[in-house]
Amino acid sequence: MPSQGTVLVTGGAGFIGSHTCVALLDAGWAVVVLDNLSNSSAVAVERVEELSPGDLTFHRVDLRDRAAVGAVVDERPIDAVIHFAGLKAVGESVVDPLRYYSNNVVATVTLLEVLREREIRDVVFSSSCTVYGDPANVPVAESAPLSAASPYGRSKLFIEEIFRDLAAAEPGWRVLLLRYFNPVGAHQSGRIGEDPHDVPNNLMPFVMQVAVGRRDRLTVFGGDYPTPDGTCIRDYIHVEDVAAGHVAALDALDRIEGCQAVNLGTGTGSSVLEVVQAASKAVGADIPFVIGARRPGDVVATWADPSLAEELLGWKANRTLDDMCADHWRWQSTNPDGYR
Ligand code: UD1
Repeated sequence: MPSQGTVLVTGGAGFIGSHTCVALLDAGWAVVVLDNLSNSSAVAVERVEELSPGDLTFHRVDLRDRAAVGAVVDERPIDAVIHFAGLKAVGESVVDPLRYYSNNVVATVTLLEVLREREIRDVVFSSSCTVYGDPANVPVAESAPLSAASPYGRSKLFIEEIFRDLAAAEPGWRVLLLRYFNPVGAHQSGRIGEDPHDVPNNLMPFVMQVAVGRRDRLTVFGGDYPTPDGTCIRDYIHVEDVAAGHVAALDALDRIEGCQAVNLGTGTGSSVLEVVQAASKAVGADIPFVIGARRPGDVVATWADPSLAEELLGWKANRTLDDMCADHWRWQSTNPDGYR
């Protein structure tokens, strides 16, 4: 397949990054991965190469190391950048905010300075629905008010603001801020997937670690919310749909000017208990759980209005919650200890 061009992927060894690398290689892009491996594994990159042999190079680099980033970017012409690299644990960000501002905000500013010097101005950024805070209305559209409830959330919001300021100040930048809802699942081969290094903060990895016997039971954070079954509602989206959204976003950069935020969600909400039920079906066994206290800072219910993504990117999610659970389980059951 002829090369579409070369894309620099920061955080390409991570969960969403690795799946996006496969999708990019499948679509004929050459891929240059930058990752400091602080929360990811080089094995993920090897498996990406196994799933989609193509033009991929990997550099273990921290984005705050300006000279090292510059050296990679100077190695070959880069057409566009997808910027995933960052930390994402809400609780940890409350305990150690500087680590988050350094890894997320400082790293992004350093990357952007390197890119500006070389006139590389096409960027897709990994944002999050966390920038909507506790939304007043669902489904949430991109025009909803922005706020953040943790240093992690603020780091995403600050970075979005930095991109908006930069695009307003300097012509030529074309930036898509992709606001992911709740990416879960794994590549359908079961070869790559999410591999949290510590106790998982997020629901699906925790559920799957219970299913595989690494943990005794799930604690459902709150069973008395004002929702049909009393548990919180989220818009879970298959990571392969998220990955496809990035390929579509790269193609769409030619059609936008300045900076534009776009939701990546399915438009459908599922409760915690619905996820547990779908996971039990995929696993073929009950997932033991207890209802516990609410988790401070949790939003009751949020799901996306995904219409702008369809209009602007020509992209829409098409995998179901059952697909997400089946694929996540294939990854977890064949790799019970992740990449280790
Ligand atoms: C969380 C973060 C969000 C971040 C996203 C990606 C919070 C409040 N929000 O989103 O900012 O962008 O992760 O990393 O941390 N649940 C349980 N038991 C568990 C784990 C989760 O019941 O052991 C529930 C939660 O209360 C929530 C749902 O499952 O209702 C989804 O949780 P999670 O996967 O952590 O995602 P978010 O809270 O949506």
